Amino acid sequence: MPRLAVLGHPVSHSRSPAMQNAALAALGLGEEWRYEAIDVAPEELEACLRALPGEGFAGANITVPHKTAAFALADVSSEGAQRIGAANTLVFADGQIQAHNTDAGGLVAALPVAPRGARALVLGAGGAARAAIWALRTEGAIVDIWNRTSARAEEVHLELGGLQIEVQGNAVTAIDQSAYELIVNTTAVGLHGEDPFAHLPLRRDGFSEQILVDMVYGDGPSTLSMAAAAAGATVVDGLEILVQQGALSLQIWTGLEPPLDVMRAAAYSLGDR
Ligand code: ATR
Repeated sequence: MPRLAVLGHPVSHSRSPAMQNAALAALGLGEEWRYEAIDVAPEELEACLRALPGEGFAGANITVPHKTAAFALADVSSEGAQRIGAANTLVFADGQIQAHNTDAGGLVAALPVAPRGARALVLGAGGAARAAIWALRTEGAIVDIWNRTSARAEEVHLELGGLQIEVQGNAVTAIDQSAYELIVNTTAVGLHGEDPFAHLPLRRDGFSEQILVDMVYGDGPSTLSMAAAAAGATVVDGLEILVQQGALSLQIWTGLEPPLDVMRAAAYSLGDR
């Protein structure tokens, strides 16, 4: 029986086991494959990853706080994982650990329109921001980066530069909110009930018919999402990105077309995350 898992710390809140097991069942693999959550402390990660193939694991998702460490431990990695410097999906095959990053593709897949040529603003400069910036620039969007600590925005901008794209955007400190067709919040603001308009360079009444992606997700729409939707923006929430990245991971492991509707229903039906 091939086994799969999500490795994180903590991980008990993860919706991935319910979502992936529902998908495996819908694909007729419910008897064969199983997906579980494994809580691994950072100092145990390497030993755990090295032991998993011997215990029948075919692959794993990697979540906070292990994405950078998992990438560093891999033997081979996809171009995206290399540029982002983090892995959220591993494959154990041929005695090797292969690293992928489906957070990037998951964001692009969750967008209602292809971002080519769009002016985009990414808020944040952590791992989630790096995946978003790399994904959007690779897709041909012009991506500005804002971060509370502006030096980090500069750093990420320069590190993720050098793609074969002439106009790729800048690290910015002042924002014209209405100038962007796409705004992506990758910061943690809102996760613990903070007022996003007090911490981010956005105005509650500054949204228009844009696309807003808020990676923060809880049990209902975020404050940012509600303000954007009220102004006629199209909102993409963090759960949809979870679904899309999970679908891409499942495709890598099984080679099969993921049942998106089943995965979405399972992810959204869980009250607590
Ligand atoms: P992840 O890897 O999940 O993106 P991270 O590396 O901890 O997480 O990054 C968190 C991001 O949220 C950072 O961009 C951080 O800004 P700083 O670089 O200035 O720390 C941002 N962030 C967290 N709390 C914030 C707040 N209250 N206001 C604005 N930005 C905040």
